[in-house]
Amino acid sequence: MTHQDELAIEVKGLVKRFGDVTAVDGIDLDIRRGECVGLLGPNGAGKTTTVEILEGLQTATSGEVRLLGLRWETDAPVLRERIGMTLQETRLVDQLTVEEMVRLFTSFYPRPLEVEALIGLVQLGEKRHARVGKLSGGQKQRLALALGLAGDPDVLFLDEPTTGLDPQSRRALWDVVAQLKARGRTVVLTTHYMDEAEVLCDRLVIIDRGRVIARGTPRDIITSLGAEQVIELEAEPSPDLERLRPLPSVVAAQRHAGRITLRVRELHLALPEVLREVAAGGGQLLHLSTRRPTLDDVFIDMTGRSLRESAEEKAA
Ligand SMILES: Nc1ncnc2c1ncn2[C@@H]1O[C@H](COP(=O)(O)OP(=O)(O)O)[C@@H](O)[C@H]1O
Ligand SMILES: [Mg+2]
Repeated sequence: MTHQDELAIEVKGLVKRFGDVTAVDGIDLDIRRGECVGLLGPNGAGKTTTVEILEGLQTATSGEVRLLGLRWETDAPVLRERIGMTLQETRLVDQLTVEEMVRLFTSFYPRPLEVEALIGLVQLGEKRHARVGKLSGGQKQRLALALGLAGDPDVLFLDEPTTGLDPQSRRALWDVVAQLKARGRTVVLTTHYMDEAEVLCDRLVIIDRGRVIARGTPRDIITSLGAEQVIELEAEPSPDLERLRPLPSVVAAQRHAGRITLRVRELHLALPEVLREVAAGGGQLLHLSTRRPTLDDVFIDMTGRSLRESAEEKAA
């Protein structure tokens, strides 16, 4: 197999503009067959726009997209049979039962998965004869996933698949992704949940304002910070960041809403010095904790904003 054959998705210089808004600002992606890749970023980062271009639902302003070596411009009918997707909102037919709806979708494809297997995969066996209109939100989302899988796609796109899901549905979805990976299928998912990205994805592409700001395995991305530990502290009065930064083993110091976050290489070297600095300023310690760095620390490092906060801000 050549390098090209191994790639499920190739994107070069993808740009999408809506009038004055540049939603996607020059994104490159290489996704191998059998990989699960997560596009992680806050609301408005350009994740949905990117995925919808890959799905053939939107056209790019410029740039090149290949899926399975094919292009939407010339190979749309074949691509439609070989990719699957669940949209942020899928239109379901309320009057059909779960089984009827799944059967209907399998009839659209030349080599579909079995109806029973699909229903089992998303754990809707008990709801087989229930009308779609009577399902809970999480059950509807799982049904939408079964429909996206009906054609046994080589590449599956999941856009924010667990946003607003109940824990059972969320776990069911995680299981499905694991099974697809085990069967060598390619999965591209978008999320603003860092825990989900870390659990499910072999590789992550972190997007902010239409650009890729980091990529790699979750481990590698976190390691790129050059810090082993994070110290969070609050003190009154709060110590000067400029006095903390030069302390031994401290890699970076930031302040967010009164709380100081220090990324450090070696806790045992940094912590005593940090506490000494607080005491020297006559400060009273109000909070102190240490933890391993997360993807959010990477995002803050690169953008000065928190992934979680910027996601919630927009959602509010
Ligand atoms: N149809 C559209 N018309 C105008 N602006 C759009 C349209 N779709 C998306 N955008 C804008 O493009 C940017 C990226 O949106 P989107 O791809 O939905 O981000 P994400 O999925 O990461 O939240 C946002 O600023 C959004 O408002
Ligand atoms: Mg989106």
